[in-house]
Amino acid sequence: MHNGRQRILVVDDNITNVELLEAYLYAADYEVIIAHDGHSGLDMAFTEAPDLLLLDIMMPGLDGYQVCTQLKNSEKTRLIPIIMITALTEIEDKIKVLNAGADDFISKPFNKHELMARVRSLLRIKSLHDDLDSSEDIILTLALALEAKDPYTKGHSERVAALATDLAKTIGLSDREQDRIHKAGILHDIGKIGVSGKVLSKNGALKSDEYDAIIAHPSMGATICQPLKSLADIIPMIKHHHERYDGNGKPDGLMGDEIPLGARIISIADTYDAMTSTRPYRKAMKKGVALTVFESEISNGQWDQELVAHFIHIMKKNITD
Ligand SMILES: [Fe+2]
Repeated sequence: MHNGRQRILVVDDNITNVELLEAYLYAADYEVIIAHDGHSGLDMAFTEAPDLLLLDIMMPGLDGYQVCTQLKNSEKTRLIPIIMITALTEIEDKIKVLNAGADDFISKPFNKHELMARVRSLLRIKSLHDDLDSSEDIILTLALALEAKDPYTKGHSERVAALATDLAKTIGLSDREQDRIHKAGILHDIGKIGVSGKVLSKNGALKSDEYDAIIAHPSMGATICQPLKSLADIIPMIKHHHERYDGNGKPDGLMGDEIPLGARIISIADTYDAMTSTRPYRKAMKKGVALTVFESEISNGQWDQELVAHFIHIMKKNITD
C-alpha cells in the first residue's frame, strides 16, 4: 500500500496493451507503474514494492515465465501476486503459467470485468499477507528491544540469527528455511521477557525458583508467539533451542533428530555467541578458543555432531579470512 493506493506493476512490451490496462486500473484508483521488458520489470518488482504484477508472457529478453520464476524464488518478492497475461490458449501453456508460480492468468483479449475481479481478489490476499507481516515485525522488534535493555545481551539475538543462517545455508537449506531460522534466531529468547532482569544478570548461584524461571523461557517464548499463525513453523525452534542431542535437555527431553533441525542449529549458534560475549559473571572468550572448546566438546552429547563440524569449519574460515 502506497499513500493509501495499491500499486500495480504492468510488465508488457506491447504499448496498446499497456495503455488499455493502465486506463482500466487508473479508473479503479490503483497506482500503475510500467515496465516494457522482462529485465526492467524484474528490477522494478524489487525496488518499487508493487502489490501485484500483471505480467505478459512473450517479451524480448527475459520472458514472463522467467520473470515469474525469479520473483517467486526470492524471499523479498515471493508474496507479490502475479497474474500472467497470455495470448496462448493451449492447456499446456496454462499449466506452464501455473508451474512458473503465477497466482492466476488471464487470456487475451481479456474481459475488463473478469480482469478487475481477479486483480481485486489477489490484492485482498496481498493485504492479508501485509497485515501478517506487520504483526511479525512487531514481535521481532519487541525481541530486539527486550535484549537492548541489557548491555550484556545487546546484539545477541541478531548475532545468533546470523550465525544460524550461515550454518543453515552451508548445509544446503532453502532460502525459505534460512529465513525461518533467521526469525527463530531473533526470537529464540523472547520468553525471557517473563524473567526478572535481576535473575537474568545475577552473578552467583541461582536459587531453585530462579533457575525454574530461567529454564521456562523456551516454553514461554513459544506461548508468546503462539497467536501468530505465520510463526507456526518457527515456534518449535524457539521451544526446543535448549534441548540436548542426548535427550538431557529442556523442556521435553527430545533426543537426536526428534529435535527440530532449526532448534539444533540455533543451539550451536547460541552457545558460541554466549561463549564469545562478555557476561556479568565472566569475560568473553576469544573466538579461536571458543572453537577449540567446541572441538573438544563435540562428542559430549549436547549437539548434533555433524552440525557442529560444519559450524567449526565455517567459523575457522571466517577467522582466517
Ligand atoms: Fe535461550
